[in-house]
Amino acid sequence: MGTKGIEIVDLNVGDLLGILNGAFSDEWLAYYQYWIGAKVVKGPMKEAVIAELLQHAGDELRHADMLAMRIIQLGGTPVTKPEEWYKHSGCGYDAPDDPFVKKVLEQNIKGEQCAILTYRKLVDLTAGKDPVTHNIALQILQDEVEHEEDLQELVEDLQTLGL
Ligand SMILES: [Fe+2]
Ligand SMILES: [Fe+2]
Repeated sequence: MGTKGIEIVDLNVGDLLGILNGAFSDEWLAYYQYWIGAKVVKGPMKEAVIAELLQHAGDELRHADMLAMRIIQLGGTPVTKPEEWYKHSGCGYDAPDDPFVKKVLEQNIKGEQCAILTYRKLVDLTAGKDPVTHNIALQILQDEVEHEEDLQELVEDLQTLGL
């Protein structure tokens, strides 16, 4: 923890840490939802869908890493117990119990849309107040916007097959 680095944050750091731990928990749940989705998914265009899900899983894990670093920098502790992810998560988790490609994609689109709103709020909250967190939130938001687009394009491709 750096004292000047924290001093320049013009926000309640405790509240900010709560929001960051919420996003951190979301990222782990999103990571697992993609990872397990890639294992169980079934149906047409399966290979293309698996490749996309795995790429997104890697991105969500990287986002969790970025948030953990920032939480520690601000003097906080990233959530240490997986069972607490649900308590902190804003976007939750959808189990891919129906492994059909379209269903799995729709669940993940819902998650991405929630993530987009979460990071949009964090970008707004930190604007002019905490440039370091602002920059992280902006980078993650760009990825989540791209994720939503990638998944919706796969759904459109499936629709051309009449699904
Ligand atoms: Fe993410
Ligand atoms: Fe994402």
